[in-house]
Amino acid sequence: MVGRKPPSRKGSMADVPKDLFAQIQRLEELFFVPGQKLKEITAHFKDELVKGLSKEGGSIPMNPTWCMGFPTGNETGTYLALDMGGTNLRVCEILLPEEKGEFDIIQSKYRMPEELKSGTADELWAYVADCLQQFIEYHHEGEDLDHLPLGFTFSYPATQEYIDHGILQTWTKGFDISGVEGKDIVPPFQAALAERGLPIKLSALINDTTGTLIASAYTDPEMKIGCIFGTGCNAAYMEDCGSIPKLEHMNLDPSLLMAINCEWGAFDNERVILPRTQYDIIIDKESPRPGQQIFEKMVAGLYLGEIFRLVLLDLHENPDVCIFENIDVSKLKKPYTLDSSFLSAIEEDPFENLTEVEELFQKTLSIDTTKPERELVRRLAELIGTRAARLSSCGVAAICLKKGYKSCHVGADGSVFNKYPHFKARGAQALREILDWPKEVRKDPVDIRAAEDGSGVGAALIAALTLKRVQEGQVAGIRDPEAMLKGTSAAGGNKQEVVVPK
Ligand code: BGC
Repeated sequence: MVGRKPPSRKGSMADVPKDLFAQIQRLEELFFVPGQKLKEITAHFKDELVKGLSKEGGSIPMNPTWCMGFPTGNETGTYLALDMGGTNLRVCEILLPEEKGEFDIIQSKYRMPEELKSGTADELWAYVADCLQQFIEYHHEGEDLDHLPLGFTFSYPATQEYIDHGILQTWTKGFDISGVEGKDIVPPFQAALAERGLPIKLSALINDTTGTLIASAYTDPEMKIGCIFGTGCNAAYMEDCGSIPKLEHMNLDPSLLMAINCEWGAFDNERVILPRTQYDIIIDKESPRPGQQIFEKMVAGLYLGEIFRLVLLDLHENPDVCIFENIDVSKLKKPYTLDSSFLSAIEEDPFENLTEVEELFQKTLSIDTTKPERELVRRLAELIGTRAARLSSCGVAAICLKKGYKSCHVGADGSVFNKYPHFKARGAQALREILDWPKEVRKDPVDIRAAEDGSGVGAALIAALTLKRVQEGQVAGIRDPEAMLKGTSAAGGNKQEVVVPK
């Protein structure tokens, strides 16, 4: 299998006319990334991870998070967690009980209105605070809450000098809210909470990947990397402080561990190694932040449907190709009409004549398809999904090579990982090719598996770890240790008791 294209449906191409067949072959050449190329990408990726940690920096931000070390499984207390994702906003209350590795969670989900993503900062923070307020009123009406500690999962690249601080480097995932980039997001967020009189104390601002890493490590000591393969794509891992030259001035104990939020979506922003197609170039150009998140734009869920749409439109407009002849393709002309679930559905069609694909095209795009056209779209979905999985594995392999991990568990979450057909198997196959595991190795040494809930349990655990650290007098990366403990009933010791709602 090494370096060969993935198999397409046997015999199904027999009735595909020459022009479409030639296009299928062209698309295979364009989108398939052979094993050798994956290895080259991985080697460069590893160098870029190292560069990101250096004083000079590189295109991958490698953000220090001030989440220091793994959980023990003995963390306790009650916490709030807020997750501002690309699609939903989730508020959770998490109880970490005395039993090792256990948790209880209650949660509410709120839709992130599309207009908010390109609105103003005030509207954003007002919406977030309103959701928190609704949650508190519903679950704790009339109770006298004593500064509940909050872990806020803010899944965008942020520079953190402290764990309860974060300067947004750039919006990603199509967000474009003015007046937020380059500023600490915590003060306006806290101001919105204060305006509503909410008794909440931000203990930790975290990334979804760091949350995923910590939540998964809570129950699995072999867990070394946390990944999100969803609307966006990224990973976090633990680094020893001695290997973070850009923090040298802080004189941290070199043996301490700190989670690094890689923000690997920015890999190859300088465009030297990724095999970009004309379609990837258009996606980038038309995005709110051209030149940024170049890797993410090839692999993340937000973009897969759009790549697919651009290819189909290009074929339709090509005079040498007969596809969707004499059909109104106006719906296909609308940017971002198709999301990655459309591709998932195409890949999941179990029928030989692809009747589900036929219905999908009629329902979503008002396009009647012929069987050969459906064969092409099916192959195209496979190629785009396969490329995303294979390139994503380069990032995982690069971290393993950087850290010298011969075997470990990688916790993964996100809609693409959980819902896109064959993503896991394709990613695992790519890892085998990149890391050259001998054929006789039965169990993959680096195992990418479904993670625990990072932005709920992970955020709570990081808040707990932070408070415990402050109680023990380890205050690196804590802006105001006294203020952080004030109002919490944390008493120190291993089994701390942090603010339980009365
Ligand atoms: C963001 C990351 C995040 C990832 C997955 C990217 O667009 O920049 O911070 O971890 O999406 O949600």
